[in-house]
Amino acid sequence: MTPISLTVNGRRVSAEVEPRMHLADFLRDRLRLTGTHLGCEHGVCGACTVLIDGAPARSCITYAAQCDGLEVRTIEGFDDDPTMRDLRAAFSREHGLQCGFCTPGMLIASRDIVQRLPGADEKRIRTELSGNLCRCTGYLGIVNAVKSVAAQQGVASEAPTVAPATVAEPARFIPAEAEAAPAAASRAPAEAGERKGWTRFEESFVIARAPDVVWAAFADFPAVASCLPGAELTEHDERTVKGRLNVKLGPISAGFAGSAAVERNEAAMTGTAKGAGSDNASRSRTRGELTYRLTPEPGGATRVHVAVEYNLQGPLAQFSRSSLAQELGRRLVAEFAHNLNARLAPAGAAPAAPPAPASLDAVGFVWAALWSRIKSLLGLAR
Ligand code: FES
Ligand code: FES
Repeated sequence: MTPISLTVNGRRVSAEVEPRMHLADFLRDRLRLTGTHLGCEHGVCGACTVLIDGAPARSCITYAAQCDGLEVRTIEGFDDDPTMRDLRAAFSREHGLQCGFCTPGMLIASRDIVQRLPGADEKRIRTELSGNLCRCTGYLGIVNAVKSVAAQQGVASEAPTVAPATVAEPARFIPAEAEAAPAAASRAPAEAGERKGWTRFEESFVIARAPDVVWAAFADFPAVASCLPGAELTEHDERTVKGRLNVKLGPISAGFAGSAAVERNEAAMTGTAKGAGSDNASRSRTRGELTYRLTPEPGGATRVHVAVEYNLQGPLAQFSRSSLAQELGRRLVAEFAHNLNARLAPAGAAPAAPPAPASLDAVGFVWAALWSRIKSLLGLAR
């Protein structure tokens, strides 16, 4: 059991949970907050959407243990929220619900949309809502309801007076260029590990070549990009890289274009890449930091320790803390290690590295993730 302490709808909650318990079960079964509904339990339908630290997240693919120290807000926590009041009225007026099963998740996603995109048109609203499924309404009433409240928000945001204090201001985002500046890149990793709302994972892998060979390979940015599935390098010099990473998370595809500043310390054999990117189609944005450290392994090999920390805003943020996203990160690192090993293998010792796939499809990893979980439950070797 894992002890956790979090804030749910403004109330401090402490509990012991099994590591595999997802947040939706914790909210429903332990806290009796049954307004959070469970449909697919695969991160697809959006019925279980809640806010975690102010951003929409799918509670069925987020472990409760991951929410230690965070703030969770469920549909029960919006009684006094003015935007939610407007949305509830609009959903009733526009016939935006029938059975109501999708409605809690739909309302929380809609609130995020109207606050983030005041004045959004129908096309944008349909795109933004594409991760929330309704089996009853045909969506017309829902879209009309969200459009009417988004229009009100648009008028309010254009008015000369300041918006009501109770309406959350959309999170600010640091442009890629600013984030990639050398000054930002000098922040200590320890400080980075404490960033609120960021997701972090660590992995390590072994490359069957000496540390100096691996160190030199990491300075070859086109080679590194060719080993990273879904990555395209468009521009680079010794300290900066620009490119694109194509990913699919749940029902949403995204191509993040951005840049990163790279720092390397040869004496310590460590490196850091800090950057930011955005996906125009989903209007999701990300900032991230990757650090690596090389240590010698027996037999002349090298262990590469990797720590990745990232923050997502926009529709894809719903998946950023999910086990699916973490599985995606683990698979990405494993594929990279496999490709780099193949690339650095002495001539004739291994086949050439396969070309990087056009995109990294997280949905393709669902079965791998499930199988991995089943194996660990059954105590089978990994
Ligand atoms: S229950 Fe369907 S996304 Fe969580
Ligand atoms: S109102 Fe029934 S699923 Fe949406």
